[in-house]
Amino acid sequence: MSDLIRLCAVEDLVPGEMRLFELDGFDPLLLCNSGEAFHLVEDECTHAIASLSEGRLDGHTVFCPLHGGSFDIRSGKALALPCKQGLRTYPVVIEDGAIFTRKR
Ligand code: FES
Repeated sequence: MSDLIRLCAVEDLVPGEMRLFELDGFDPLLLCNSGEAFHLVEDECTHAIASLSEGRLDGHTVFCPLHGGSFDIRSGKALALPCKQGLRTYPVVIEDGAIFTRKR
């Protein structure tokens, strides 16, 4: 049995776009298309309670809508204060034109 969980079709997320997913058994997840690759990170900012899906994506950097902190979506690393703790990252699998993640 496959442990893959389908998120959406590859064509559903154009470069520069991001989308929130709320899946059973997961914290809210943010799927991002940097233009080079798809990345999946936790959606909640590590500084306070804010959904990064309401922020802005610029290349590999997602900016929090609340206080302007930012993260690298490839590694989850915090890039700008007030964020110090990085985001959790999740696997992305592309298969048959669709984007999946994997149960841990
Ligand atoms: Fe994200 Fe403060 S809640 S930077």
